Amino acid sequence: MNPQLTLDREQFEIFHDQMDFFPSTRFMGSKSKLLDFIWDNVKHFEVNSVLDAFSGSGVVGYMLKTKGKKVHSNDILQYSSNIAKALIENNESIIDNEDLITLLGRSVKTNGFIRDTFRGLYFTEEENLFLEQVWHRIGFLNNPAKKALALSALARACVKKRPRGIFTYTGDRYNDGRKDLRTTLDEHFVNALSAYNKAVFDNDQKNSGTCGDIFALENRNFDLVYMDPPYFSTRSDNDYLRRYHFVEGLASYWQDVEIQTSTKTKKIKKYQTQFDSKNSVYNAFHKLFAMFPKSILVVSYSSNSLPTKEEMIEILKQYRKNVDIKKFDHKYSFGNQNHKIGDNKNSVKEYLFIAY
Ligand SMILES: C[S@@+](CC[C@H](N)C(=O)[O-])C[C@H]1O[C@@H](n2cnc3c(N)ncnc32)[C@H](O)[C@@H]1O
Repeated sequence: MNPQLTLDREQFEIFHDQMDFFPSTRFMGSKSKLLDFIWDNVKHFEVNSVLDAFSGSGVVGYMLKTKGKKVHSNDILQYSSNIAKALIENNESIIDNEDLITLLGRSVKTNGFIRDTFRGLYFTEEENLFLEQVWHRIGFLNNPAKKALALSALARACVKKRPRGIFTYTGDRYNDGRKDLRTTLDEHFVNALSAYNKAVFDNDQKNSGTCGDIFALENRNFDLVYMDPPYFSTRSDNDYLRRYHFVEGLASYWQDVEIQTSTKTKKIKKYQTQFDSKNSVYNAFHKLFAMFPKSILVVSYSSNSLPTKEEMIEILKQYRKNVDIKKFDHKYSFGNQNHKIGDNKNSVKEYLFIAY
């Protein structure tokens, strides 16, 4: 590197954008391309505590953390909530060299569960053994934040190594030879640890993360609640477990989940949520909005979903006097691939409802 271009710490703090360090994935429904749009529409509210109620990839909570907010991230998936614990709740712990030696170190005895259950489905025998070994070694790490970092990195390695990053099919049929697919699983893991380490930062707030059904969340005291639930749609798939069951199972080593052994993919039985069916989804939104009587409600919404846009406005008006609707404007996406959104007839329009 040209030494004249090296920034000292202070210059670095001024010029770098913390968001650049977020290790993004192609998580279904991720709002990574809508972050400026979301922030521009909420930044005028004077709020401190915020809830990212359906955190998914974690990217929205992370963005709010970079803005100095006190963030709580929640998701029903352990896969997602590990990311929240690693990058939202955790302000300081990183995986150091000693931890790395622990994670990649001496062989531990495992029960062969991954090799037996998923033989020939997603990864090679050797890779399955690697996953078993690393998962057990993560148990030797001495703090929960480090465990969450290592588990998130292990899941990221699996997703990166998997053609299309999903587990809805078995075998290797979508392997187009791209670099991520030629990189070994252990290299992906080390790269992912490094990416997660770099993303850890302190925003001087006591942030937190939980795993669970949103309706079971105990703390309901937030200035602003951001909601991006899985919308019910007859046209698109919103089944997160079907896509990510392998990394979800890996998060707990398939404890307390039911593997559907008759399926080819050996997927986990769906977690029941009220957002899944046409019959329950309306009531789910009523319950959700009623949970946070004092908060500003910010709801991400895609067209082609139920409730319809008009129905959603009606529902929100029962809980708040003011309901603003913001439509995603493509000016936000200049400079990246996102300008393609909206180019065709089947495109989905993105909205933000803001109720206060
Ligand atoms: C549209 S995604 C969120 C995407 C996220 N905003 C992002 O940018 O990555 C919806 C998320 O809701 C979670 N989810 C589904 N039902 C839930 C429930 N009842 N309680 C909490 N989370 C739930 C899913 O696991 C999924 O991660």
